[in-house]
Amino acid sequence: MDYRSFFFFNLAFLALFLLSHQALGSSRLVSPPDDESEGICAAIATVGGYECQEFKVTTDDGYILSVSRIPEGLRGGVAGQKRPPVLLQHGVLVDGMTWLINSPEESLAMVLADNGFDVWIPNFRGSRYSRNHQTLSSSDPDYWNWTWDELVSHDLPSFIDLVFKQTGQKVHYVGHSMGTLIALASFSEGMQVDKIKSAVMLSPIAYLSYMNTAIGVLSAKAFVGEITKVFGLAEFNPKSKIVSTFLRALCVANNVDCYDLMTAFTGKNCCLNASTVDLFLKNEPQSTSTKNLIHMAQTVRDGLLSKYDYGNAPFNMVHYGQAKPPVYNLSRIPPNLPLFLSYGGKDALSDVRDVATLLDSLKLHDVGKLHVQYIKDYAHADFIMGVTAKDLVYNQMISFFMSVN
Ligand SMILES: *[C@@H]1O[C@H](CO)[C@@H](O)[C@H](O)[C@H]1NC(C)=O
Ligand SMILES: *[C@@H]1O[C@H](CO)[C@@H](O)[C@H](O)[C@H]1NC(C)=O
Ligand SMILES: *[C@@H]1O[C@H](CO)[C@@H](O)[C@H](O)[C@H]1NC(C)=O
Repeated sequence: MDYRSFFFFNLAFLALFLLSHQALGSSRLVSPPDDESEGICAAIATVGGYECQEFKVTTDDGYILSVSRIPEGLRGGVAGQKRPPVLLQHGVLVDGMTWLINSPEESLAMVLADNGFDVWIPNFRGSRYSRNHQTLSSSDPDYWNWTWDELVSHDLPSFIDLVFKQTGQKVHYVGHSMGTLIALASFSEGMQVDKIKSAVMLSPIAYLSYMNTAIGVLSAKAFVGEITKVFGLAEFNPKSKIVSTFLRALCVANNVDCYDLMTAFTGKNCCLNASTVDLFLKNEPQSTSTKNLIHMAQTVRDGLLSKYDYGNAPFNMVHYGQAKPPVYNLSRIPPNLPLFLSYGGKDALSDVRDVATLLDSLKLHDVGKLHVQYIKDYAHADFIMGVTAKDLVYNQMISFFMSVN
């Protein structure tokens, strides 16, 4: 059998497998328990010493999401002075734990807490601590009927409102990967900007035309192709057998070495500690919706940042009143919003050419309000887990926050 027929053989097998499960009324195969009591605070209790509080927010479309807070560090801060709140927003296929995987001296959450900040760590819908809903169960297909458009219009406002109300202060925002996309899209529509003091974009993602991670390109092709019809509305759980079968089939069919999935997805990270990667793989990846990945794949295909494309003009008319999905125009981001962008030369997801497109759309941003940092050797994961990230990125980030405070 050649690779091509092997590939389609696998797709067909996958389709049958999925359909048979859907027929039984369950599209969820393997997934973590919906345990409300567990949260990031419980998971990091062993890190020791740091105070940690759990919050829940309910979005206006019924999702019940968890947010953890490290209100202060072991040092840092000035007695009697309010600590500026910082919200750390994770990317796709992971959750807020990614901010806490390194040692306390190296993890952004603790570094910020120890420098006098009040740190908030939300978890997007569908990830392990944010799987509850007022009326839906995460085993209902309807629970998974969303893309990052809904993260922009429902999850992000809920998170920012919570922090704004709890602290009475405007919020410093830090996003990584999809966490940057959500914020940029939101700011471009004028949403949240009144509650944001500044925003940091690590591995910024907006345009994905040049994404060159092998598995990413393959998945994107598969997702806008036949896979769409096969998966339908469903959870995409990277830890499930069905998804690993799918990924393996993709790699084999295209003769790509995906033995090291972390590198296959994120590019060649320069500065990860092996024990950190082990810990990361124990905690991640997390589920997202198949529809969200289809939306991302459309961004790769179209080279445009727009809302979810329903696939044809009549369907788009129904949802948007126009034949093509509306575009997020990043030139509309308020030019006086303080922004700090940090991107890497080895990042396969946030390619330097795509970052150039993003910077071009920000070319009218106020001089002095846009800070750009380029780190030649960094790939996608180095920004959150690199052993040098504190020295290269976090210290600069803290100076940036101080300068706009
Ligand atoms: C998914 O949500 C959209 C609105 O965002 C709705 O129009 C559509 O009917 C829903 N699809 C299903 C299968 O429920
Ligand atoms: C990797 O991390 C472990 C655990 O924090 C630490 O003991 C070890 O020294 C680190 N190795 C390097 C090369 O930084
Ligand atoms: C995007 O917004 C800018 C600034 O408002 C405007 O000049 C430009 O024409 C817009 N682009 C599109 C494609 O709508």
